[in-house]
Amino acid sequence: MRVLLVGGGGREHSLAWAIAKSPRVTALYAAPGNPGIARHATCVPIAADALDDLVRFADRERIDLTVVGPEVPLVAGLADRLRAAGHAVFGPSAAAARIEGSKAFAKDLMARFRIPTARFETFTDAAAARRFSRELGACVVKTDGLAAGKGAIVCPTAAAADEAIAQCLERGEFGASGRTVVVEEFMEGEEVSFFALVSGTHVVPLIEAQDHKTVFDGDRGPNTGGMGAFSPVGSFDERMAARVMDTIIHPVAAALAAEGAPYHGVLYAGLMLTAEGPKVVEFNCRFGDPECQVLMVRLAEDLVPALGAVARREPLPRALAWTSDAAVCVNLASGGYPGRYPTGLAITIPSDVERDGLQVFHAGTASKDGRLVTAGGRVLSVTATAPSLPDAIARAYAAIDRIRFDGMHFRRDIGRRSTWGAGSSGPPNPPALRATAQPSPGASAAWSRPAV
Ligand code: AMP
Ligand code: GLY
Repeated sequence: MRVLLVGGGGREHSLAWAIAKSPRVTALYAAPGNPGIARHATCVPIAADALDDLVRFADRERIDLTVVGPEVPLVAGLADRLRAAGHAVFGPSAAAARIEGSKAFAKDLMARFRIPTARFETFTDAAAARRFSRELGACVVKTDGLAAGKGAIVCPTAAAADEAIAQCLERGEFGASGRTVVVEEFMEGEEVSFFALVSGTHVVPLIEAQDHKTVFDGDRGPNTGGMGAFSPVGSFDERMAARVMDTIIHPVAAALAAEGAPYHGVLYAGLMLTAEGPKVVEFNCRFGDPECQVLMVRLAEDLVPALGAVARREPLPRALAWTSDAAVCVNLASGGYPGRYPTGLAITIPSDVERDGLQVFHAGTASKDGRLVTAGGRVLSVTATAPSLPDAIARAYAAIDRIRFDGMHFRRDIGRRSTWGAGSSGPPNPPALRATAQPSPGASAAWSRPAV
């Protein structure tokens, strides 16, 4: 089977790593890929959003299966274009990808089909949005369209809500994405990302992971695309997974099909485990990044048949096999990220860092004059597995200790949240965290090392 993978980040490196292991795959291409992906695939210099070029490439190379990593080409209609040209594609149509591409569409669908989510209203008028925010108290203002992970502004006070509404609707700081906003109730609870394969009304549960969205330890600082993830999540047991399938995944698959926009791909449900049960924070039309990295290293079977079945509209397996091992992924970021950051800085990764149970997935890297250099905000996704979460954490941070680039920074508490207890929004204080969740001694240096 000839496979094309679209994208070039850490998520796509982990997908390339999983796909390349399949005995069914005779050729794997990545567009555009990155130097890490190039170890498993032939990288072709086509951008992930160059729809015409991607369709031409799939035609010319007689691609049997295209797997689309990021949301932007899906929202722009890449899956529709490929299908129209007769290609099997893993990833939803533009109409179904609106579940991520338009928050107003997603919230309206959830309201009409009674899928649990935060109370909300949609606005284009700033004064009306402000009035509703007063009714809610603490709230979240969200741009309707895609905003590279920066379109949700959590507003603890009325003043913060006023400012967020002004940013979107009066000052146009988010451009067209922010001309319509959703204002919604602030939900309290633990956040979990849950994934399922969806093909029309057929669904297969995958597993859960937890992301760490803010840049600094203890969930402080601005939001990023995700600084790290772990899986499994202790508070998310089988009963919770079944409840999420029953109340959220099955209903949304049926809702999209009923609306004439059947979904075919992986559905990412961003959930808040509230006192009233799991509620949807957002849906995404793709795997999470960095959640995908921890899912791929826990997968205990060939990924390609399941992706192919969704893409070809064939019957899905009932479930996929997963290891009971824990996995953790720590993202190493460029100095300044999530703000402005330099690129082109040399990266040092000793050749013996990678081994069984430790993968260094490339996110924002490039090759320059034969050297590996930084090329993005999130540079590397150091991903470890072990029989227990503390051991996986220790293994990841021990590897990170040996990796260098100027300005490199990362969170030192990835995976620690699982020991904070359900419903906690963060560690009570750093000393308590150290006392309760110290990993094996080998990793302690990484925890005390100041950011460089
Ligand atoms: P989103 O872009 O919708 O995923 O939102 C980004 C982040 O903002 C989420 O991962 C949550 O941490 C937070 N957030 C979004 N909506 C809510 C909400 N209604 N209540 C509490 N936190 C939220
Ligand atoms: N890790 C968050 C996302 O992929 O949207």
